[in-house]
Amino acid sequence: MENNFISKKISSWYLQHKRDLPWRNTQNPYYIWLSEIILQQTRVVQGMPYYYKFIEAFPTVQDLANADENEVLRLWQGLGYYSRARNLHKTAKMVLENYAGEFPNTYQELLKLKGVGTYTAAAIASFAFGEKVAVLDGNVYRVLSRIFGESTDISSNEAKKVFMQLAESILPDQDAATHNQAIMEFGALQCTPSSPNCMFCPLAMDCVANAKGQVAALPVKSKK
Ligand code: ADE
Repeated sequence: MENNFISKKISSWYLQHKRDLPWRNTQNPYYIWLSEIILQQTRVVQGMPYYYKFIEAFPTVQDLANADENEVLRLWQGLGYYSRARNLHKTAKMVLENYAGEFPNTYQELLKLKGVGTYTAAAIASFAFGEKVAVLDGNVYRVLSRIFGESTDISSNEAKKVFMQLAESILPDQDAATHNQAIMEFGALQCTPSSPNCMFCPLAMDCVANAKGQVAALPVKSKK
């Protein structure tokens, strides 16, 4: 894995700069799943109180599954996209019925859950179970497109394949969880969409976009 120095640099940046977020201090797949569903269309600061409310009201996936749907929707109030709350409830019931209340523990099984797509399945599989799978979200697309100078349009059909290959090329054999958290956090805090602080970036010397003066132009995204 010749690009592993990239992962090492990002992970060591992460250990110094990461935010202390509650879902990072657990390997409970149910808590991680909750956090990821909440954060799908919601910012961290806005989502955090909801995360606490939900784990307090429903400490286990059984509690959530057995809750009244109106109670789930009531707790969700303010987050919008109520289909997310309904799916949350349905999925909890699925976990109870199809998996005896034990969250599935592989990427492939997680994908079968309603509302769990490739990103969320990879997040849960790596954070909770240490499975070696790469996460791809908006932050990761941006970081990868800049580091590698990859100009494939991230809203195109082939983007996922192209960027997954790049993501896998820097995924370490050990501790995919830290690597995945790190690259997302690096995108959120350091390699930001506008005016990233490349002067103080540990990857400045390794970054193709930085070398070519293309940081502002990457990632390419034609469609909203
Ligand atoms: N947004 C989505 N998932 C996240 C995570 N695990 N940490 C921080 N922000 C996120």
